Amino acid sequence: MAKHPASDKHGALWQAACAQAVRNAHPEKSTHEVDMHPVVQATNSDSANTDLSGLLAENADISNLFMELTLAEHWQDDVAIAKIKERLSSAEPELLWHDSKKIFLEHLQQFSARPLYRDWQDAEQQQDFGVVRHLLADNAKIGIIGDWGTGGGDAKALLEELLTEHRVDVLLHLGDIYFACLEEEMLSNFFNPLQEIFKKTGRQVPVYTIPGNHEYYSSGEAFYQLLDQLNVGFGPDYMQEASYFCLRTENQKWQILGVDSAYREAVQDLKVKDKAHYDYTKYYPGLCDSELQWHKHKLEQFDGRNILLSHHGLLSAKTVLDDNAGSVTPYMCPALFNQFKGLTDKIDLWIWGHEHDFSLFKNYCELPDDVKVKQSCLLGGSARDVEISENLPECYKDIVYIGDDGKPFELGSNNGYMNHSYAVLDLGAESVAYYQIPAWPENNRVELGAGQPKCLCEIPLLAER
Ligand SMILES: [Fe+2]
Repeated sequence: MAKHPASDKHGALWQAACAQAVRNAHPEKSTHEVDMHPVVQATNSDSANTDLSGLLAENADISNLFMELTLAEHWQDDVAIAKIKERLSSAEPELLWHDSKKIFLEHLQQFSARPLYRDWQDAEQQQDFGVVRHLLADNAKIGIIGDWGTGGGDAKALLEELLTEHRVDVLLHLGDIYFACLEEEMLSNFFNPLQEIFKKTGRQVPVYTIPGNHEYYSSGEAFYQLLDQLNVGFGPDYMQEASYFCLRTENQKWQILGVDSAYREAVQDLKVKDKAHYDYTKYYPGLCDSELQWHKHKLEQFDGRNILLSHHGLLSAKTVLDDNAGSVTPYMCPALFNQFKGLTDKIDLWIWGHEHDFSLFKNYCELPDDVKVKQSCLLGGSARDVEISENLPECYKDIVYIGDDGKPFELGSNNGYMNHSYAVLDLGAESVAYYQIPAWPENNRVELGAGQPKCLCEIPLLAER
């Protein structure tokens, strides 16, 4: 059973609470065994609205009712509490649902305050705050992964491949540590797998990570703890101070900017008090004003070339990002477009995650207001297991990169699951290559199917301005 992390704060916190309850009751169970527990399976399935039957469907209903009951108690909504209890009266739920409810209620209270954030304006270094002091080698090879924080065996295999086959010098993560980046999840799904594979391969590299929506479901507490733990072994010059970062090469030719596109949304979530009008699906990514100022300063002051990394995407090949009726650009996120439209000529490559797929967009992709995006890519499928859908949405062919065979580059699939993907940016060769590796949600290693190339494509970075 694959993990289906909910993409809303309450759903994700509920999933995290159920997994925690199972871990507490069965400390001897491995991460995979916890994933396979009926309570966790039901909760994960329910969140993905999968077609269910039998006991799993029954458990998924109970899971949903317990989540709603906890929320009603949190909001002190007596009418809703009575209704849900009535519906639960005929069921005989196992103790673990009650344990999950207790943990969930504690987390709702614990994570109801404004999330953490480190604003450069409050720092003594001002605009230098967030700039990593260590400079990358001019010919550095950089591994890029997105939505990697599952702790799965396939996620670890992907990291191992980056370290041993590609021998990357540094690793950059585009965010999302599941389910809600609680301390336990941050350790078991991100920090510990990194250490395990560093030890196994005998290669340890600095890691920089930006937050996705999931890191802020727990107010960013464990995420900032992670920043303060990562790279400690390399020394203070390698540390990531903020949820955004700037990395430069020794020759000052390349600048890599990591963006926090999730904090603003997390703050907006808190402002919505009326749960009846809470639209969790509303897309609110974007930078807070002070951070946008910081990135503008970096893009305007730096004489070299720029690579931008964000969790949320400017474009989507398959989903609607602009849901305003009659929008001529449904594939474009209006908030990020408005924030970056005056800066795209300075951005040589923009890579993002969040959607668990791979899409390469056209060179000089044309958007409204005469804006052109030089090179961009969705790379959010490095670990989260995605089942193949019978009804894949139509691709926005006008904006995706079309290969020599007249088709867009797309991930293959194995055993009913889409492959995972990652990128290797080679600054010496001035190219970026995208790779695929099979997903194996059952924890049994799977190899790429016949005819599936490991390298999806290698694209030269466009010539210097
Ligand atoms: Fe995300």
